[in-house]
Amino acid sequence: MKDYISVALPKGRLGDRVYSMFESAGYSCESMRINDRRLVFENPDAGIRFFRVKPTDVAIYVERGAADIGIAGKDVLLEYSPDVYELLDLKTGICRMCVCGMSDFRDDRSRTLRVATKFPNLARRYYDERSREIDIIKLNGSIELAPILGLSDVIVDIVETGRTLAENGLTVLDTVLPISARLIANKSACRFKWDGISAVCEKVGKEADKQ
Ligand code: PRP
Repeated sequence: MKDYISVALPKGRLGDRVYSMFESAGYSCESMRINDRRLVFENPDAGIRFFRVKPTDVAIYVERGAADIGIAGKDVLLEYSPDVYELLDLKTGICRMCVCGMSDFRDDRSRTLRVATKFPNLARRYYDERSREIDIIKLNGSIELAPILGLSDVIVDIVETGRTLAENGLTVLDTVLPISARLIANKSACRFKWDGISAVCEKVGKEADKQ
């Protein structure tokens, strides 16, 4: 049986963009373009198999070896610290992790700061470095609502175009770190399938450099 390289691709816009890079690099799977319900796609000639998974699950598939490689945002990698190799910066999915709040927000350091976020570990690290006492409010989406409704003082969240903030009267108070999509790999797959994985990295890396 042919030794496939299996790739966990995040569903959605980022996954579509990254798939285009794989396609240009010679790893296409025609059915990916026409079927949005199937979850497994393969091209036996190119020796590649794609899985479509939830963006926050990519690292789990790769860490446990269900996929040899995958595409994950740096935000997810820093939040969950999976035991994987990070092989490439794909220079797409570019955004920033920011502290945001109402434009008139002033930090009162005599009070515990209430921080709403999807990224509790990342937010905790940021405030620990600043010796700021916080209360984390973990949410799963629509984070911008929290300061508007008084559920939190600030949020730690992704800002891409800045439109969601602007539409909701919020502003960036500080940038925590820049984010982009990374190609990650399972550690033992790197030992046993290195020829295939390095060939993918080299070709997809060239496409990433064109970004
Ligand atoms: C993300 C993020 C912001 C928004 C930023 O949310 O949490 O809400 O995108 O993008 P912008 O700067 O281009 O407006 P997502 O779309 O993942 O939805 P969510 O609210 O369900 O987290």
